[in-house]
Amino acid sequence: MKQLLAPCIGALVQFFSLPFGLSKRRNFQMGLVVSLLNHKGGVGKTTSTINIGAGMVELGKRVLLVDLDPQANLTLSLGAPRVKDTIYEALRGECELNPVQIKPGLDVVISTLDLSGAEMELINEAGREFILRELFETVIEDYDFIFIDCPPSLGLLTLNALTSSNLVLIPLQTEFLAVQGLAKIKQVIDKVGFRLNKNLRIGGVIATMFDSRKVLNNNVVEIIRKHFGDQVFDTMIRDTVSLAEAPSVQQDIFAYKPGSKGAEDYLNLCKEILARIEREG
Ligand SMILES: Nc1ncnc2c1ncn2[C@@H]1O[C@H](COP(=O)(O)OP(=O)(O)OP(=O)(O)O)[C@@H](O)[C@H]1O
Ligand SMILES: [Mg+2]
Repeated sequence: MKQLLAPCIGALVQFFSLPFGLSKRRNFQMGLVVSLLNHKGGVGKTTSTINIGAGMVELGKRVLLVDLDPQANLTLSLGAPRVKDTIYEALRGECELNPVQIKPGLDVVISTLDLSGAEMELINEAGREFILRELFETVIEDYDFIFIDCPPSLGLLTLNALTSSNLVLIPLQTEFLAVQGLAKIKQVIDKVGFRLNKNLRIGGVIATMFDSRKVLNNNVVEIIRKHFGDQVFDTMIRDTVSLAEAPSVQQDIFAYKPGSKGAEDYLNLCKEILARIEREG
């Protein structure tokens, strides 16, 4: 099995060979914008955005979630009210960002399928990579964290997320093919960091949907950890049915099943993220 995984190691070494984590960031403060990014679909971006956001609320933080995916999975998963001014209208310059409250401490900017046309519609717009960053200026002081749920692509929407972010968190499903895209993600983040946003850093990799009974899951984790140690978050998000059920009742995991493994994992992950931020000062 480990031989099967060998081709991935080269890509991973390349991915992690440049400065990683928060170590280069000085004067780390709250009001942080964090993108959840992986152009691979179905790896746990939306689930992690929702439940890291809700976990931070449990820890007393003020959180805004931004649904930047035309699939609008985050919007639907939280049962957010269908207001007229979505992220689509805001990106088109027709309105300011319009956060709606999900519960005390947790707001959302909703998405809509219309957003699928935005990349084409904004193609000739001057400064089109910075529209989201501009929109954040009016709301950034109202929150400790803004978490952006990126679409499974590396197009203009994702570029807008990266130019407005301080940190990128990369959810990684603990499956063989999941590690294949890491070099590409790193390349895009490096380019954006070099050309468009000097504040951008990779905050860490989150192992998702981990099942300790599966040999493959364990091997992928072992390989990632062996080579990259601390750079992967210690907390792994276990494969657990309550995390998949929560969206069907339009709740985050802390509202749906506060005592569940999913709630435990995401709360531990939030604590680890905060500890890293504090440690790196
Ligand atoms: N830890 C977990 N345990 C069980 N199911 C999970 C877990 N995390 C996510 N899922 C389920 O896996 C599916 C994909 O997760 P999610 O929608 O968060 O991925 P995504 O990366 O946002 O996908 P997309 O790229 O399509 O936006 C969903 O049905 C979700 O409920
Ligand atoms: Mg998603």
